[in-house]
Amino acid sequence: MTHPLIDLRSDTVTQPTEAMRRAMMKAQVGDDVFGEDPTVNALQQRMAALFGKEAALFVSSGTMGNQLAIKCHTLPGQEVICEADSHPFNYEAGGPAFLSGVQMRPLPGRRGVLNIEDLQASLRAQDHHFPPTSLVLIENTHNRAGGAIVPLENMQQIHRFTRKHRLALHLDGARLWNAHVATGIPLAEYGRWCDSLTVCLSKGLGAPAGSVLMGSREFIDQAHRYRKMWGGGMRQIGILAAAGLYALDHHIERLAKDHKNAKKLAHKLAKLPGLRVDIKAVQTNMVMVDLEPSGLKSADLVVTLKENGLAVIAVNAGRIRMVTHLGVSSQDIDRATAIVEKSINQLINKK
Ligand SMILES: Cc1ncc(COP(=O)(O)O)c(C=O)c1O
Repeated sequence: MTHPLIDLRSDTVTQPTEAMRRAMMKAQVGDDVFGEDPTVNALQQRMAALFGKEAALFVSSGTMGNQLAIKCHTLPGQEVICEADSHPFNYEAGGPAFLSGVQMRPLPGRRGVLNIEDLQASLRAQDHHFPPTSLVLIENTHNRAGGAIVPLENMQQIHRFTRKHRLALHLDGARLWNAHVATGIPLAEYGRWCDSLTVCLSKGLGAPAGSVLMGSREFIDQAHRYRKMWGGGMRQIGILAAAGLYALDHHIERLAKDHKNAKKLAHKLAKLPGLRVDIKAVQTNMVMVDLEPSGLKSADLVVTLKENGLAVIAVNAGRIRMVTHLGVSSQDIDRATAIVEKSINQLINKK
């Protein structure tokens, strides 16, 4: 019997469930460019209320949400402070320079967390040689740090810092849902300690597309204009918003299962010779696996794993990433571990 591929590359690979597809099919729609799509309006109102913000804007992607935030919080020639491994700095195609004309100032963090002393030290004197700083960007959960949860206290400290120095604070909360479920901290509490935030419906929540940008009414009004300018105004898009509303009702609490599966995977992989897994670092739905003890290269392992029925991604030459999601069961974790063991043995015997 051949098994279907187990896809642990990302939580973005999920298929909309039958029930989600039914909700999409039944959605009432209108022209959202005229502000007339009732399902989009319902999603935006519900999201703003959930996160305690004045207003929300449905956007095509997490990237668009973050880039709109950077655009609205800055002027060309200004500087944005971010964590060096953050998504907007590494994986948004140079958007901040191209779309907003700003300079990014990456500060090294610890497991995705920006240290407040480093932030303080990064402040520039009032001098015409320097770019004025206008925005600080944070990310929670942190993708490159393996789904790490940024503690709320750190966010509160950074919030105080940005208030004191008249800077804006934007949170890339693509996977904030995972932090919320893992910690029990209410979503509105995260919303309270930033000026704006982006959250994604298309990652752990399993919708086929869509993210939501939130902030003050004035900020969202400005973002709405740039969304139009950047070609992001869509028409009967309630079909997608309906998937988001369905996900809010049915797919938030179940993230705990993904976290349990990630822990199970980490424990099982840690027992295999040749691999190193920091089990304590697995806080949500991601597992980072270091191959160094085996001497294998992640590019080779990724190919062999795929041939054996498991898709993962290489983070760097010696590290792979595995992400659990709603398409992955506890049995899949057993099978994935067996595939990893088999693939490592195959590669080691080839050497
Ligand atoms: C932390 C984080 N922010 C933003 C994004 C961008 O989301 P999108 O792929 O919808 O543009 C991602 C995508 O994986 C992400 O992991």
